[in-house]
Amino acid sequence: MKNSSPVKVSPSILNADFGHLADTIQTLESADWIHCDVMDGIFVPNISFGQPVIAAARKLTDKPLDVHLMITDPLSSLEHFAAAGADIITIHPESPGNTHLHRALTRIRSLGKKAGIALNPSTHPEVLEYIYEEIDLVLVMTVNPGYGGQAFIPAMLRKIQTIANRISALNLPIELEVDGGITIDNAQSVRSAGATVLVAGSAVINAPQPARVIKLLKGSNAD
Ligand code: DX5
Ligand code: ZN
Repeated sequence: MKNSSPVKVSPSILNADFGHLADTIQTLESADWIHCDVMDGIFVPNISFGQPVIAAARKLTDKPLDVHLMITDPLSSLEHFAAAGADIITIHPESPGNTHLHRALTRIRSLGKKAGIALNPSTHPEVLEYIYEEIDLVLVMTVNPGYGGQAFIPAMLRKIQTIANRISALNLPIELEVDGGITIDNAQSVRSAGATVLVAGSAVINAPQPARVIKLLKGSNAD
């Protein structure tokens, strides 16, 4: 799987101006997916948005909605996120309500959605070992979840490489998404480590020309 096709870019709307969500989404025409960061103020120290904003985004774009759940008890609300229009639902093994992680992942797939698992920076990839068959995506957090605009943690490059090698050895069609502090300056090293999807919040949303940044994140020349 490693680097067999161009990297995808999934801009995060976390820091968008929600009064003008339609305009923001329009500027993301060259993005592959739209990343939706759901935060409950308990699992992470910030509250962002939930199903209503995802349902609004669903009406504004046909692109896959890549929903990253940073919430305490994802299992109890998977149906709601699926109904709101999520295409990919990614959950954290560190969520207290995810004691039955395997059950939650199979529930996501039974709802007809792609199942993802997101690892906090300090979480060891061994948590993935017995669930690789149940997932479509691994998301490596390269900042501590909770806020946009934080600095990339360089030690995560090793974790990306380790997981990329394991996915390739298993020969499974699993996307390796990297989320947090991605910029046009560090994107090359993240791609080389084996990422197949880059999430970018502030780097894209705050840019005067988001399409140019998306192109650079993919490794193409801007012009
Ligand atoms: C952090 C979120 C990220 C974040 C990305 O908790 O999961 O998706 O919004 O934003 P930047 O790219 O600004 O780090
Ligand atoms: Zn995210």
